[in-house]
Amino acid sequence: MEYVIGVDLGTSAVKVLLVDRSGQVRGEWTESYPLHQPHSGYSEQRPDDWVEKTIVALRRVWETAGVSPESIVGLSFSGQMHGLVLLDGDGNVVRNAILWNDTRTTKECREIEEKAGAEALLSIAKNRALEGFTLPKLLWVKNHEPHLYERARVFLLPKDYVRFRLTGHIAMDVSDAAGTLLLDIKTKTWSETIARAVGVDLSLCPPLVEATAFVGTLRPDVAERTGLPSSVNVFAGGADNACGAVGAGILAEGRMMSSIGTSGVVLAYEQSGEKDFAGHVHYFNHAEPDAYYIMGVTLAAGYSFDWWKRTFAEAAPIAEIVKRAAESPIGANGLLFTPYLVGERTPYADADIRGSFIGIDSAQTKWDFARAVMEGITFSLNESVEIIKASGKTIDSVVSIGGGAKSAEWLQIQADIFGLPVEKLKNEQGPGLGAAMIAACGVGWFDSLKQCADAFKQVESVVEPRPDAVAKYKELFSIYREIYPHTKELAKRLKAFRP
Ligand code: XUL
Repeated sequence: MEYVIGVDLGTSAVKVLLVDRSGQVRGEWTESYPLHQPHSGYSEQRPDDWVEKTIVALRRVWETAGVSPESIVGLSFSGQMHGLVLLDGDGNVVRNAILWNDTRTTKECREIEEKAGAEALLSIAKNRALEGFTLPKLLWVKNHEPHLYERARVFLLPKDYVRFRLTGHIAMDVSDAAGTLLLDIKTKTWSETIARAVGVDLSLCPPLVEATAFVGTLRPDVAERTGLPSSVNVFAGGADNACGAVGAGILAEGRMMSSIGTSGVVLAYEQSGEKDFAGHVHYFNHAEPDAYYIMGVTLAAGYSFDWWKRTFAEAAPIAEIVKRAAESPIGANGLLFTPYLVGERTPYADADIRGSFIGIDSAQTKWDFARAVMEGITFSLNESVEIIKASGKTIDSVVSIGGGAKSAEWLQIQADIFGLPVEKLKNEQGPGLGAAMIAACGVGWFDSLKQCADAFKQVESVVEPRPDAVAKYKELFSIYREIYPHTKELAKRLKAFRP
């Protein structure tokens, strides 16, 4: 029996999957690492933590599954997007990585729009300048830490850095490069126009490869520490949302995915790179060569749920929280929540907005609050569903992955709020499975990601929207939508009081 490995480098942890030729997950291992948030709006990690934990997980996954490491033939990656890793000429990290959910770069976003022009950005990079993207972070380091910027010789994204440390080869795949704001997404080349306009030297940009490209094999020291043979073929891998889409079979028009990880994402396949969505949604290259996707992002989805649990019900197991929340009625007895704990992206690109509970009543219990959090996260995702529907796409159903797919209750809330059937996959494993599928194609088990998805993907159940619940949620959603405009200025004024 042969196996491939999918490494999903997430924000809270690295998860490694061992997958066989039939798509069965034969082993998994997760190692977590800390997030550093020295100020409100800041979010950093130590790239060395990613590498060390990935190496541990790569050994534990085959040891605990009881398979021979010699039977592992391929490995690929999925990674948290946008994070800036700066390396000096010797390949050493220059500073902590600045992550996708770090929003310190509002000034740099305006600087980019002024210098490059909003229209040029939309026609070349196909996206607006948003705080989470990599180019604003690069400029932030240039503006605030010029001595570190001077030392930098190349920048990488998180999983590209881990791949570099595992193989010794520097490369960035186009699905992740699309999230830097420096890529011409149609030609899949670095944009000299944008780089020159904002004063960034293109020599800082690494060589580009497709997500499916063969990159190299394991360095001998890594092979020794992981116990894997150094002959394991390593393929580039892709952005976590692209890999999540691969795993969920979002590889043809009309397919949509909703993912609740630390962030929340609603994503739809797009065949063309020539459309104009006017920056209302993110528009990126897919992990499948010559395909694209559009998506909306809720910055704090699973993160809001985790925050609530940590703060108000630390000892309660997740299943218990979800069960008690489900006992609260639709609308949580008159309570609404907006999940803007770290600012927001879609549809409100606003780094200063913060979350709120509206409608607190003395009759409510903490489980009403838990329900309001789950509903608020889903309302936020529904803002993206509405934008994607309004773009003219015909969507018949949504595939749910991540935390929202793990409970029948949250699947039902999604179906009722989206007003669409929601598919739950058998053996749902999030983006790590997409990474393993890239490796499975790379080693020649399949001719294309689509063929692999057809073989691996199995729908376990479809949750239908309930008409009476859909009607109630429609009314609640219209109230939810009014919270942002009413709290926008208040959140700005409170900024001075945040840590
Ligand atoms: C997408 C985004 C997040 C991260 C999470 O634009 O910033 O979904 O990829 O890992």
